[in-house]
Amino acid sequence: MDLFTAVEARRSIKHYDASAQMSSSEFHQLIQATMLSPTSYNIQHWRFLRVTDPALRSELKDAAWGQEQVEDASELIILCADINAWKDRPERYWADAPKEVQAVLVPMLTSFYEGKPQLQRDEAIRSCGLAAQTMMLAAKAQGYDSGAMVGFDPDRVAEIINLPDSYLIGMIIVVGKAKKSAKGRGGQLPMDEVLFENSF
Ligand SMILES: Cc1cc2nc3c(=O)[nH]c(=O)nc-3n(C[C@H](O)[C@H](O)[C@H](O)COP(=O)(O)O)c2cc1C
Repeated sequence: MDLFTAVEARRSIKHYDASAQMSSSEFHQLIQATMLSPTSYNIQHWRFLRVTDPALRSELKDAAWGQEQVEDASELIILCADINAWKDRPERYWADAPKEVQAVLVPMLTSFYEGKPQLQRDEAIRSCGLAAQTMMLAAKAQGYDSGAMVGFDPDRVAEIINLPDSYLIGMIIVVGKAKKSAKGRGGQLPMDEVLFENSF
């Protein structure tokens, strides 16, 4: 599918065919594509939690105000990020680069994040956002529908999934086959309200 077609066709789907399944190869293709999303200093700090256990899905649905897509979508992925990834063996992020590039970037990365908790968190959220959009467009290109979700109790979800202390939850992404298409778009702002040139 052409990228612009996928961008136009992707809509947030809330009602899924509960009998539809993604094959294992499709799921892995989806994650492989998502893992090509850009991250600052290539730290790849997203951690994708795939929830396949129906009992967990049901608990998550309760934590998400009963939104039915949590149980019915073929796949449910909780997009998390490790806020401390910047200090976890950072040489891994440049392992394939020439030695002289590694020598500059690895220490630079460390000093960029050290002592800056707000930046570490902002960066984690930014990266989850980019990964989410890659995932949803890739799913569309595979013939699947998707939806991003923040409508849940984050503390409850963290407890259900045993979220490690240094991780945050960016959002939930559901992927599957639509049972009901999306309604008309809610209302797009005109371009001159959102696009500026040179300064505000
Ligand atoms: C980060 C994020 C969280 C969202 N959370 C929910 C949600 O919990 N439940 C829901 O029904 N829709 C949710 N949405 C869907 C938005 O309402 C939807 O993206 C928006 O209305 C635009 O529609 P479209 O995605 O079909 O173009 C979320 C979207 C984003 C990007």
